[in-house]
Order: sequence, then C-alpha cells, then structure tokens
Amino acid sequence: MIDLRSDTVTQPTLAMRRAMAEAVVGDDVYEDDPTVNELQRKAAELLGKEAGLFVCSGTMGNLLAVMSQTQRGDEIIAGRHSHLVTHEVGGAAQIAQVMIHPVDHPQDWIEPEAIRTAIHSEDIHEPQTRLVCLENALSNGGIVPLPLLRQTYQTAKALGLRVHLDGARIFNAAVACGCSVSEIAACADTVTFCLSKGLAAPIGSVLVGDRAFIERARRNRKLLGGGLRQAGILAAAGLTALDTMTERLQEDHNHAKLLGELLAQIPGIHVEKERIQINMVFFKLCNDKIQPADFLKKLNKEGILTNPEDHGLFRFVTHYGIMESDVRTAAEAVRKIMEG
Ligand SMILES: Cc1ncc(COP(=O)(O)O)c(C=O)c1O
Repeated sequence: MIDLRSDTVTQPTLAMRRAMAEAVVGDDVYEDDPTVNELQRKAAELLGKEAGLFVCSGTMGNLLAVMSQTQRGDEIIAGRHSHLVTHEVGGAAQIAQVMIHPVDHPQDWIEPEAIRTAIHSEDIHEPQTRLVCLENALSNGGIVPLPLLRQTYQTAKALGLRVHLDGARIFNAAVACGCSVSEIAACADTVTFCLSKGLAAPIGSVLVGDRAFIERARRNRKLLGGGLRQAGILAAAGLTALDTMTERLQEDHNHAKLLGELLAQIPGIHVEKERIQINMVFFKLCNDKIQPADFLKKLNKEGILTNPEDHGLFRFVTHYGIMESDVRTAAEAVRKIMEG
C-alpha cells in the first residue's frame, strides 16, 4: 500500500533501531537517564530555550504547556481550527480546566489584532486571559510568515500574556520558510515539537521553555502518568531523528508539490495549490459522477490509503516512506478512478 494518510505512519530507520538497541538508559523519573537528558539538552539548544522535557506525544506536550502556564478558569486564545482545539479531545478544557477563546482567520493565522480584541480586562466578571497558543506549521498544511509570528509574539508579550507554539511540524515550517527552528521558536515562550511524524522516530515529542516552566511541566507530566522509566530507549531514536532526518524534509515538500501538480491535471479534481507549503496536499472532487466514499474505496482498491474527506477535502501527506514513484502511482490511480 502507498500510505498517504499522514506522516505519523513513518517507520523508524535502521539507524534509529540500532541506536535504540544500544542506548545507555536509567530511570528518567529520577532524571537519571543519560540518553533522555541528552535529547532534552539538544532539543533545548536547537530551539534556543533553557530546558526541554521528553513527552509521550504532541498532544501531551500541548496539554502540559497549557496546564503549566495557566490556572483553572483562565482563558487561552487559540486558532479555531488548530490541532489543540479540534483534535486533542478537549484536554485544555477537561484537564487544564481553561476556557478557549477560538480565533477565526482565513489562513488559520493569529494576527496581533485578534489578540487585542480577544483579551479580557481585569474586570472581576471576566476570565483572565493568560496564554496564546500558536501553531506552525499549521494543521491546514500552511506556514505562518515569520514577520507575522514575531509581531503576534511581541503583541502578546506587551499585553502580559504567555505564548505557546504547537510546533509539531516546526522542522517542516523551518524548511519551508528557509529559516532555523530557533528563529521560529523565538516567537514563543514554550514550544512542543514532534520526533515522530516527518522525523520518523517511533514515539515522542519534546516540550521546551524556561527552566521554571519545565519543572512545572515535569510535575504535571507525572500527574498525567507520563513519567517514564528507561525512556532512553525511545529518546535514542529521537536523537537519531534530530541528527539525520531534518534536512531531508525538503524531499517530502518537493513530493507534495509534484503530487499537487499531477492531481491538478486530472479533470474532476480541484487541488488547493496555494496551500501546498509543506508535505500536505488538499483537494476536492468536483465531479458529480463519483461520491467521496466511493472514491475512497476505489483508491484503497488501487493500493492507495488515505483518510475520509474532512470538510469536503481529501488530504494526501508525503513522508519518509513515499518515493517519487509512489507519488506518480498515486496520481495515476486518481486519474484512473476519475476517468471511470
Ligand atoms: C499540528 C499538530 N499538533 C499536535 C499533534 C499531536 O501529536 P500526537 O499525535 O503526537 O499527539 C498533531 C498530530 O498530528 C498535529 O498535527
């Protein structure tokens, strides 16, 4: 099968599996695991922050960021379609017990003006606005321009707010905007990034920020049951991912562009071409002869895996397991289906 569902389906490389087998480990709840400590140090250094914390997933990293920078009843500002709002089981509300002030924007950006409008006053009737949650790269496959990210951060800071960045795909964003991850991370107080997804590690994310924040997050991680013991086995794969997998992301982006171009030539397919900035291609069917569920079934039969359409759009995601030949095969399969 050519699996275009997500970059979360990537398999760990041989180098990762070897590093896992050979990892020197200790009990990470005692902060004794040298491999975890090295991953956290390296991640913090790369992103230009004081400290890092290895966590089970991007979802856990984002939740810890909210829990560790707010109090019950506070309000956070976040994009209406952001992963934190739409795909994290409402953890911010359920567990951190904060209110979410969702922000709308045609490209899912958060502009400075949106923060000025959303922030509450000190009036005792109003919840306290504490935190702005940004995302880059965006779940919609786009990136936020760096100058805008900087302005948004400066505005939030001037208003006394903390800023968290969901940088699950921050390395894709950096490649796409031709900057370093630390330049993006400088636009937030705390950042989560994923070692799984495009970097192909089997498990894990890192949360980075100042030392005091990371100590609060460590306590909250224990509360959530995320205090792992010989976690160096997993961190070893993460270190290999940082050493070997970040540079190659351009290849995934090139494949997404190629896939977008090939799909756009097929009658009945409309590709959202302007959205192809990282490794995601969004498209819709504009042909009455085939229904989305039928299209999905036929794709599957042709050996192409993808998720059901969401808000009228299908998404193909390129990643480490997808070669140029797979891109061409997938486009051919779509053509065959559309031509009936
Ligand atoms: C933008 C974004 N943030 C956070 C996450 C959550 O990561 P995880 O699946 O590791 O919990 C994802 C997962 O796809 C994501 O796309």
